Amino acid sequence: MEVVIYPDAERVARHGAGLVEAMLKVKPDAVFGFATGRTPIALYRRLVERHRTGAVSFARTTSFNLDEYLGIPADSPQSYRSFMDREFFDHVDIERENTHLPACAEGENPQRVGPAYEARIRAAGGIDLQILGIGHNGHIGFNEPSSSLASRTRVKTLTRRTLEANGRLFAADEFQPRLAITMGIGTIMEARRILLLATGAAKAAAVAGLVEGPVTAMCPASALQWHERVTVLLDEAAAAQLRYREYYDLAHRENRALKERFGDFYAPE
Ligand code: PGA
Repeated sequence: MEVVIYPDAERVARHGAGLVEAMLKVKPDAVFGFATGRTPIALYRRLVERHRTGAVSFARTTSFNLDEYLGIPADSPQSYRSFMDREFFDHVDIERENTHLPACAEGENPQRVGPAYEARIRAAGGIDLQILGIGHNGHIGFNEPSSSLASRTRVKTLTRRTLEANGRLFAADEFQPRLAITMGIGTIMEARRILLLATGAAKAAAVAGLVEGPVTAMCPASALQWHERVTVLLDEAAAAQLRYREYYDLAHRENRALKERFGDFYAPE
């Protein structure tokens, strides 16, 4: 696990966008796994800016989002489809039909959505780079604590804590879904490369669990310790509870020196 700590969230977004760009250079038709939430917005903004200057194109890419609410239509402003359109897809050249979310149409059996979504990911050749945030409770996607570390895309019931955290986006009289369809932890673990972003003090405990805690279903993100290629980008506040902070900084400096000499050997194949 590569852990990189920056003074602020803007630098986190810049480094994250740089990794997306590096992937596009090597593989212009890359398959991305995208995430919603407050954290990746700065990264999407940065990519939109880079697209405007002509530095990056998403024209040949495909994307799969981690999750989508169950029980609200895709065209609701609260859906994750709307979030992605608003924050990213509408501002870059990605083909709309190549963007996927695990959405359940009205009348469709939600239990069928997961296996069909997994089949689409497989048909696209798998995910090259998965972007993740982390919940206060250590969730990735909507894999709440106690999710199977081998789970696949399926319906999940959201915890009270997650409902409270996301409730800010819903008006008092508005329906807030308590269920979602999310990629499983097993699905996420199959991505070839993973980039997790966390910013702000509210994430510090979850980040400590992810990086330094035991691998446990009670902190779903800790499963990433078993993944070969994970980069965790943090701001100071999110890194505040890490015990091996000094080592991560040292390793980052050494890795940077190696990259300067030999090129980015972490570059995607
Ligand atoms: P946030 O959500 O970026 O809005 O904090 C992260 C998550 O719940 O995964």
